[in-house]
Amino acid sequence: MSEQDISESPDIRFVGVSKWFGDVVAVDKIDLSVERGAFFSFLGPSGCGKTTSLRLIAGFDQPTEGDVFISGTSVVGIPSHKRPVNMVFQNYALFPHMNVADNIAYGLRQRNPKPPKQEIAKRVDETLELVRLSGFGKRKSWELSGGQQQRVALARALINHPTVLLLDEPLAALDRKLRREMQMELQTLQREVGITFILVTHDQEEALSMSDRICIMREGQIIQSGSPRELYDEPVNRYVADFVGKTNFFNGKVVTANKSSISINSESCAVLVGVKSKGAPTPKIGSNACVAVRPEMISISAADEKDNHADIVIKGHVKNRIFLGEHSEYLIVTEGFGDVLVLSPKTNESNRRIFAPGDHVSISWMPEAVLVLEDT
Ligand SMILES: Nc1ncnc2c1ncn2[C@@H]1O[C@H](COP(=O)(O)OP(=O)(O)OP(=O)(O)O)[C@@H](O)[C@H]1O
Ligand SMILES: [Mg+2]
Repeated sequence: MSEQDISESPDIRFVGVSKWFGDVVAVDKIDLSVERGAFFSFLGPSGCGKTTSLRLIAGFDQPTEGDVFISGTSVVGIPSHKRPVNMVFQNYALFPHMNVADNIAYGLRQRNPKPPKQEIAKRVDETLELVRLSGFGKRKSWELSGGQQQRVALARALINHPTVLLLDEPLAALDRKLRREMQMELQTLQREVGITFILVTHDQEEALSMSDRICIMREGQIIQSGSPRELYDEPVNRYVADFVGKTNFFNGKVVTANKSSISINSESCAVLVGVKSKGAPTPKIGSNACVAVRPEMISISAADEKDNHADIVIKGHVKNRIFLGEHSEYLIVTEGFGDVLVLSPKTNESNRRIFAPGDHVSISWMPEAVLVLEDT
């Protein structure tokens, strides 16, 4: 889809939406647009308003102010069962006394008029196949593994062919390996059925690997939304940079700022230079800021080697090295800059030394490789 098509056909739109519970604001004046067929995630820490946002789409809650649109129509006041959406809950909420097929058929049987028996059986079989559980229809839910139960929950939500599928931490109960597998299955499934998926997670890796777009929330507000790459490469502030991927931060006060570069006087009195993110405002001189350096942007060399191109060279020694297959992760104890994380790809190590704990090293980076961010 082109950018224009996308903006013309959002599946979900929030306009100035707030939700108050007594004097607690769970969702605070949110504007949001999710394009049709997208895999969209809400990402943020516990209590930031992710589930409440989903419940406003599902119709389990109504906004205190603002408007929610599904496929261009306002749904405020419309009850949950009349909305073209379905939700998968964190705890799956399967009916224990029913077998898999009856669990999946439940939504269809609740319809008025109820579809004919054969039609229900056919749809159940198709949906079982979609979630790769053909032949499991007669099992009871307690005779299934966690991943299989999760797939039954998905099938149950998909059988009514919703326009939008809402997923609230759907993989939280699974172990790491199963989680990875289900993440890939969910992505494949989303492509197969072509409907909009809205996922809630507090796991950044999950959001980054699965989503077309992510919205980062804090205290009921959207701090930034964008593609995983935009959030990683151009975070608007420290909060986003910290939430998305690993980063080293060096704090200080802004001393110069223009379009092409910003410098801060760091806590260790060194001047650090970087650029600003595309979407971020230019920080004011004298304001608190931080330089954010991704670990893969830092080069590491023996203490006596010279890198004349680097903006800054910091001396230190290796505290720890973790071998991670394609790359190694070093923790460097520096003079004046604390512990610094460095990610060194294997390709670099073939022509350079591999450093061991205790080795004296220099680390360096180029100013255009680092961001100066508002320290909020
Ligand atoms: N029914 C309710 N009554 C009162 N306060 C509520 C209610 N539901 C949510 N809240 C409050 O609203 C805020 C947002 O809650 P929400 O469940 O949306 O967070 P979340 O981002 O989903 O968190 P988590 O990751 O822990 O699930 C929290 O402060 C929560 O305590
Ligand atoms: Mg929640």
